[in-house]
Amino acid sequence: AFLLNRSSDLLVIAPAMDLDMYAHPSTQQNLKTLQSYGNHVIEPGTGFLASKLEGKGRMEEPENIVACLEQFFSQQESLRGKKVLITAGPTYEKIDPVRFIGNYSSGKMGFALANECANRGAQVELVCGTVSSSMQVNYPNIHRINVESAQEMFEACKELFPSMDSAILCAAVADFAPEKVAEQKIKRTGDEMVIRLKPNPDIAASLGQMKKQGQTLVGFALETNDEESNAQAKLKKKNFDFIVLNSLKDEGAGFRTDTNKITIITADNKKDYPLKSKEEVAKDIIDELERL
Ligand code: C5P
Repeated sequence: AFLLNRSSDLLVIAPAMDLDMYAHPSTQQNLKTLQSYGNHVIEPGTGFLASKLEGKGRMEEPENIVACLEQFFSQQESLRGKKVLITAGPTYEKIDPVRFIGNYSSGKMGFALANECANRGAQVELVCGTVSSSMQVNYPNIHRINVESAQEMFEACKELFPSMDSAILCAAVADFAPEKVAEQKIKRTGDEMVIRLKPNPDIAASLGQMKKQGQTLVGFALETNDEESNAQAKLKKKNFDFIVLNSLKDEGAGFRTDTNKITIITADNKKDYPLKSKEEVAKDIIDELERL
């Protein structure tokens, strides 16, 4: 019961149990609930378990728990005084009063990045599209701005970016929006219908042009083919300092999943990471941001 208490004390949990119990959706959901209260989870190790089965659930080695705690405390202040803008989630482009063009982005990666930056002491401006009501931020140093369309996201980002140290553009922004929004619900006529689309502003490219010395701009590329060359092209075109590539070809990566598998690409380097929870992926991305 005390674990569920919303206390201001630091609570770090290193769970250990049999593999099926750990993998069970209720356990996973409970761990998420604990994290949503600002508690921290050190994931269990993989290997032989007390039941003689083998899998994920082994208590993390005490040395590693201590190392995690040391790293946690050393990082806690590492972004103190820094301001980070993060975009997250999908944009919705209105067709008529009841319909929109959207996409499957859940906002989970962007929220994990916001939590990680806040955890390291940064002041975070989180500009997010329409996400599930279960997506909550729990740090007082995250200021959340809800927007719906790409145009609204663009306006918010343009205003905020000049006073930021960094921006991480994680949102899945629609490239096009209906040219006209119908005032009334469009009725079925039996005929085919055509919706004419106009291009949306490219938020990333605009911020890339506005970028001043000392500011860092990070983008994402979700690709289905020619992943690396597409990501390299975006890195240059949008003036990113690095780009996080995830491919829909990789199982467990991309939209709606709790995990992601990324490659971080800079102008002269490339690093592949294994499949991890989005919280762990956020740590790798923010480590790279700090290195820059
Ligand atoms: O060109 P593409 O949409 O694949 O680029 C992806 C990157 O650009 C992401 O970081 C995304 O958040 C950003 N983006 C944006 N505004 C757009 C389109 C994409 O900020 N209109």
